[in-house]
Amino acid sequence: MSKPPKSEEGGAKTAVDEAFAFDPTDPAKAKDLDHMARIRREKPVCRPTENLVLTTKYDDTRLGFRDSKRYSSVGDMRAPGVVVPEEESFLGEIDAPLHPKIRRILIKNFTRSGATRAEAWTRAEVRRRLAGIVDRGVGDLMGDFAIPLPGSVSAHVLGIPDELHDPVMEWCNELLHSSWPTTGKTDRGEGIELSFPELTACLDGLIRDREQAGAAAPDDLLSLMVNSRGDDGWSIGNHHVRTLVVNILSGSLSASYMLGNLLYRLLSDEHFESALRGDAKSIEKSVDESLRLEAPVAFLMRTAREDGQIGGCPVHKGEHIMLHIAAANRDGEVYPDPDSFRLDRVDPAEHLSFGLGPHICLGNHLTRMIGRVVLEEMLEVLDSATIALQRGFEWECVDHLQEYGPESLPVEVKR
Ligand code: HEM
Repeated sequence: MSKPPKSEEGGAKTAVDEAFAFDPTDPAKAKDLDHMARIRREKPVCRPTENLVLTTKYDDTRLGFRDSKRYSSVGDMRAPGVVVPEEESFLGEIDAPLHPKIRRILIKNFTRSGATRAEAWTRAEVRRRLAGIVDRGVGDLMGDFAIPLPGSVSAHVLGIPDELHDPVMEWCNELLHSSWPTTGKTDRGEGIELSFPELTACLDGLIRDREQAGAAAPDDLLSLMVNSRGDDGWSIGNHHVRTLVVNILSGSLSASYMLGNLLYRLLSDEHFESALRGDAKSIEKSVDESLRLEAPVAFLMRTAREDGQIGGCPVHKGEHIMLHIAAANRDGEVYPDPDSFRLDRVDPAEHLSFGLGPHICLGNHLTRMIGRVVLEEMLEVLDSATIALQRGFEWECVDHLQEYGPESLPVEVKR
């Protein structure tokens, strides 16, 4: 028998599973749930391309999220070889010891009661945006509503004045779709400051105000980040605060796709509206059942710090692990009738749509609150108006690599 070839890191290299091969950088392939279901049935942990191990079962994927000692988060959103300075890194791409230091500060705001505090503002904003669509008689529930709403709620929580929400989110959207996430730079220069000077000037002004105000600064997330000190006096530097603000605003876009999935169901499944009206608990349950069945972030990556194995599949140091959230959320051993949207699940296992373990989504309480408020307010609107998807509408998934939800939801309103 010939010797196995060596991997980049020098360890033994394991052959690609050709029967299950796909290109993980192709959004249609990476989110192909039929292919993932076949893999989960036949070889749940496999190697679909060189240097990549894929997990599709709940337990293996859960373990991948929990074990941050073995699986690193560093560099997984960047192109190979791109290293960005620590203060230009999003929270999800930082390992211990820095990650828990920052997280301990942010978590003070991202609580259930923090989400409750934001509810009244969110409800007013949902009503305002829905009223705009109803008054016009036509609109796109994605572009006019679900896309801008969660970012606006996060901007409110941060303490960004209402009149700045739209420009700040437009800059963040531009940043997300630029070369910055993968390379850390654009044609205009390296880093957020040179690549996005208008956004930087705006955020740095707000950060400076809070620093100067000290104890008198407003009680918001931005002040918390700027003025909090750890036990040892450590604080998040202002440069990193700016990056984390961009992280929080752009992370909110995942909630937009959750809203799109729920709104599409409401407008396309006649039983869903009556189920929501029939039982007070069903609104909250449907937010989590949608998150499970239609994971808005379909997968995430990690890098192995050492040789090991997952589910019997060898993993070599330096290899990437694709933790397939959408596939794991449909594991029939954990969720009976896994491909159906069901509100009668009894104590279902926690879905993996927010990840798990040290990096579990900070925005999870806020997201659940937004989902509930949107459904409650949509039911109010539907009491006095008919909202229908435009004739000929065909559901199309957004063309982003990891996100799952409708590209648009054009509607007509009749009163
Ligand atoms: C449906 C909505 C959302 C989904 C599906 C989602 C998904 C996720 C997932 C899977 C992670 C784990 C990342 C990892 O393990 O590498 C994560 C982390 C994170 N999310 Fe969310 N997210 C959502 C909404 C939000 C919102 C609204 C915010 C901001 C208010 C937010 C902010 C963050 C942040 C800051 C992290 C990094 C946490 C850490 O690394 O410690 N997310 N999110």
